[in-house]
Amino acid sequence: MTAQSRILIKGGKVVNEDFSVMADVYIEDGVISGVGTDLQVAAGTRVIDATHRLVLPGGIDTHTHMELSFMGTTAVDDFQIGTQAAVAGGTTMILDFVIPQKGCSLLEAYERWRKTADHKVCCDYSLHMAVTWWDHTVKKEMETLVSDKGVNSFKMFMAYKDVFMLQDHELYAVFSTCKEIGAIAQVHAENGDLIAEGAKRMLSLGITGPEGHEMCRPEEVEAEATQRAITIAHAANCPLYVVHVMSKSAAKVVANARRNGRVVFGEPIAAGLGTDGTHYWHKNWAHAAGFVMGPPLRPDPSTPGYLMDLLANDDLSVTGTDNCTFSVCQKALGKDDFTKIPNGVNGVEDRMSVIWEKGVHSGKMDENRFVAVTSTNAAKIFNLYPRKGRIAKGSDADLVIWDPKASRVISAKTHHQAVDYNIFEGMQCHGVPVVTISRGKVVYENGKLFTNPGEGRYIPRKPFAEFVYKRINQREKVGTPSAVCREPYTGEIISIGLKQ
Ligand code: URP
Ligand code: ZN
Ligand code: ZN
Repeated sequence: MTAQSRILIKGGKVVNEDFSVMADVYIEDGVISGVGTDLQVAAGTRVIDATHRLVLPGGIDTHTHMELSFMGTTAVDDFQIGTQAAVAGGTTMILDFVIPQKGCSLLEAYERWRKTADHKVCCDYSLHMAVTWWDHTVKKEMETLVSDKGVNSFKMFMAYKDVFMLQDHELYAVFSTCKEIGAIAQVHAENGDLIAEGAKRMLSLGITGPEGHEMCRPEEVEAEATQRAITIAHAANCPLYVVHVMSKSAAKVVANARRNGRVVFGEPIAAGLGTDGTHYWHKNWAHAAGFVMGPPLRPDPSTPGYLMDLLANDDLSVTGTDNCTFSVCQKALGKDDFTKIPNGVNGVEDRMSVIWEKGVHSGKMDENRFVAVTSTNAAKIFNLYPRKGRIAKGSDADLVIWDPKASRVISAKTHHQAVDYNIFEGMQCHGVPVVTISRGKVVYENGKLFTNPGEGRYIPRKPFAEFVYKRINQREKVGTPSAVCREPYTGEIISIGLKQ
């Protein structure tokens, strides 16, 4: 072991989801080997002073689409730039989505994603799998992905009609398979049929700009699909994860379902927590188009605050970004027709700061809840805990030293992402990542990156995450329906033969 692979973080406040404590953290060879005071450390260990700072588990971004080919073009943040931006913002793991085309092999798509990402990633990553079509071969491939490839989460689209969208009976079949193999079902919850009709109507009214994108899919289109997915998942006794919860109406549906005992988790994203859909009405087309994503940001300006309230009180569970970045010239594919604007926004770099600003600095949550919603809950849901999401002996040394007193202003001029604008442009954020450590190595310090492509690793995940499956399994044991024992009916039965 070299001195470089030993680090002592001294004098900081270690923050986990359940408590905070003044303690040092000793890192050896990529792993946390001690948390406490007066730790014995080897000669030559690098000491990083964290006085007046917080030491947090590195962020886990549950939802990214690096270099995704989508709507005729390819997202500009590739796995290298995207993960560099992630660590610059205090995130040390991303979960990206493999999205096979309809009719194509899931396993082949998975291998393609690995081949693209493995040699580029600058922090650890894992992969969700999208199920975009259904037959018995897909079921077999899902089983193999779980048993051999470390995938335990599958995303289904209820939108993107004729491209990725599944019908309800297909959702039921996929959810039932997820339940059998111990995976969590994820849904993009929007009613794809209504969006298609709404889009036609907007265009026929001459509404071709980005505002049409929101108007053709109002909140209830998202809320209806969210409720439908919850109903189908409950029928299959399958745990459900609703990705990118963007509206107050959909968030209320998730919150009510949780109160009714459903095993469902809601994921708001940085964009939805930090900004809103009023931008779609901006007079500058490029500005407005920059915010186009599905489901859309909502024009009701109270939405971000409301989503943050629900995140603070555990109605919503975890945060991602849906980072899927297209530069202005790519967005311009839809300059005369909003349905052709590539969907997606930035967030991977700014998620932690935006949530600190709107969540902790605003007084809605404390530092421990911040850790829960930016890291620990993701690790628990996707079965990475306590390897990820916790500062404890034996956990991976993925950490961020956070200065809660410092502030910065977000700008495309200074961000590390490839995209040429930033939806949070000009936002002042209190709470700044000062040092990021990934796999026991300093990868970002005082504004400088020290990353090498390929130094991150693919992290396989086992099925049947306890955090998700304990209640499901208990329900299965006690909740299987049984028939009533009764004497057979022996009376008269009418005849329903065809009339002459
Ligand atoms: O607009 C979005 N969300 N783009 C990425 C694809 C998806 O639906 O997650
Ligand atoms: Zn989606
Ligand atoms: Zn997405």
